[in-house]
Amino acid sequence: TAWHASVLTLFPEMFPGPLGFSLAGRALREGRWRLEAIDIRAFATDRHRSVDDAPFGGGAGMVLRPDVVDAAVAAALAGGDPARPLIYLTPRGALLDQAMVRELAAGPGCILLCGRYEGVDQRVIEARGMREVSIGDYVLSGGEPAALALLDACVRLLPGVMGEAASAEEESHAAGLLEYPHYTRPAEWQGRRVPEVLLSGHHAEVARWRRAEAERITRERRPDLWAKRAAGGGATAAPDC
Ligand code: ADE
Repeated sequence: TAWHASVLTLFPEMFPGPLGFSLAGRALREGRWRLEAIDIRAFATDRHRSVDDAPFGGGAGMVLRPDVVDAAVAAALAGGDPARPLIYLTPRGALLDQAMVRELAAGPGCILLCGRYEGVDQRVIEARGMREVSIGDYVLSGGEPAALALLDACVRLLPGVMGEAASAEEESHAAGLLEYPHYTRPAEWQGRRVPEVLLSGHHAEVARWRRAEAERITRERRPDLWAKRAAGGGATAAPDC
């Protein structure tokens, strides 16, 4: 009943990869979530174990076959809660944001399909009702790093993963703003001083300064986030840490 991620990939050795370390790795070993990498090639049916073919209409690259992908999806569904959302990671997808991450983390887990080559036959995407999701406006050579990023974002929100109280409260406070800058000792380093207010011990002033910095940085760097927030968005992105 732990949060369950199944990743359909041609490169199952890429998992857990970085998710075996730090917060996510500890949580994985503690059984707070479960990760299963499913090798798409295991569902190939011909002698040559082929998973892809040339695109109809011509052009470069290869396309993952719908029958092979469908069999892999069926195996993932059979091996866990069939209510888990199915997500195909693609630069053509809807942009992943913190609201989507919160929604996924609150559910039973997810099934992630990683494409390679030119993509996946569109019919299996439609037939299985997959959500197409992108982690950003750039092109990766495969969906695997995107799956790792999405999972990292979800796992840190699971109960008991992050030293809950403090961080959760922080995040809700900062909703829709970029994080303020952080400082630690020494108070002066290479001639640069930590902002005096942070050394003052005045909690209210520290809070006010941090808020003002968060707002300034959001306005300067991400006018898009700032506009969403000003428009009453509230629960948009809260990229912190
Ligand atoms: N696969 C390739 N590029 C991707 C991206 N930007 N987001 C999600 N999946 C991808």
